[in-house]
Amino acid sequence: MAKPLYVAQPLLPALSDFHTLLGEIWHSKALTNEGPFHQRLEAEIGKYLDVPTSLLFNNGTIALLAALKLYDLQPGSEVITTPLTFAATAHSISWNGLVPVFVDVLPENLTLDPKSVEKAITNKTSAIMAVHVYGSVCELEALQEIATRNNLRLLYDAAHAFGVTVKGRSIASFGDASIFSFHATKLFNTFEGGLVATPKETDKASLRCLRNFGIKNEEEVVSIGINGKMNELQAAIGLLNLPLIEEEKRLRSNLRKKYNEVLGHLPGITIQQPQDGVSSSEQYYPLIIDEGAFGRSRDEIYGALKEHSIFSRKYFHPICTDFSPYKNWKVTSTRPSPYVNTVKSRVLCLPFHSGVLDEHFEKISKVFVG
Ligand SMILES: Cc1ncc(COP(=O)(O)O)c(C=O)c1O
Repeated sequence: MAKPLYVAQPLLPALSDFHTLLGEIWHSKALTNEGPFHQRLEAEIGKYLDVPTSLLFNNGTIALLAALKLYDLQPGSEVITTPLTFAATAHSISWNGLVPVFVDVLPENLTLDPKSVEKAITNKTSAIMAVHVYGSVCELEALQEIATRNNLRLLYDAAHAFGVTVKGRSIASFGDASIFSFHATKLFNTFEGGLVATPKETDKASLRCLRNFGIKNEEEVVSIGINGKMNELQAAIGLLNLPLIEEEKRLRSNLRKKYNEVLGHLPGITIQQPQDGVSSSEQYYPLIIDEGAFGRSRDEIYGALKEHSIFSRKYFHPICTDFSPYKNWKVTSTRPSPYVNTVKSRVLCLPFHSGVLDEHFEKISKVFVG
């Protein structure tokens, strides 16, 4: 049996480098609570993302919770979001005592459809939580225009879009806030980790407070905060991984070109399209497989790859409105039937990382072209 190949492979620094930093942690006895590695990583990522507020969290889900909490949204108010995302996006809305309202996606890039967003707005809507799904950038201008005109907060779940720039501008600088995940499956990982970035310096103090139980100082607790602190082990991995991501991106970019050459003109297969002025996050390689035109279904391809011990992911399938907490909740769309319900049975993410070797690539190609 061949060694399994998974859709993601964590980026890891040299173990000896980690040992050195572990030695420093043992020596300093600073394990958490904004220790020295935490401070260094936070400063380096702030520079990398080029935004005035950029705060580390212990994972992306807690970062989402804290970012939403920042705005004191009316309890029970509605937050418009996409069902084509990881459960954490919708759950973070619900955990804040808010109501997720699901809206259709655009066929071109699978991000939130602004026209459907507009249709879903009611007098209870307080915010939009859009997702740069697979690193494809949302319709930034249209969403901002809708948010401003309707006095709504605009947050981006940017878990898939770390390091993306739009015409040279950091993705973290759009909307009111952007949330990143540094989970092991993400290109930049701290084992578990996350970050909230905002374009406003003035958000820093309240967000820092929210990250630390709402504690302002030894005597005052000023908000309903949470324990969102990243520990020193995570920060150490982050410091070592940050310089490695450019090389990993280069290797993934080559793999993307190779996949595109083989799959890009097969009838019934749609590859992720580059967006004007947008740098790739090189986070995922999603395909849309139209069974009618291609002759085989997404599930058949998934099964055929699995026979070679190649594990692709039906990512995101099921979608949020298939999960029991949101089962059969409405998906607002300007189409007669939401596109998301069609595309969910067509999307497939192929293994996409530097561990995909020529032999894997040959096998994957064969499954598609025979
Ligand atoms: C779109 C999206 N949002 C949020 C999360 C949650 O991040 P974390 O796993 O770091 O809590 C993930 C994935 O892990 C994700 O893919």
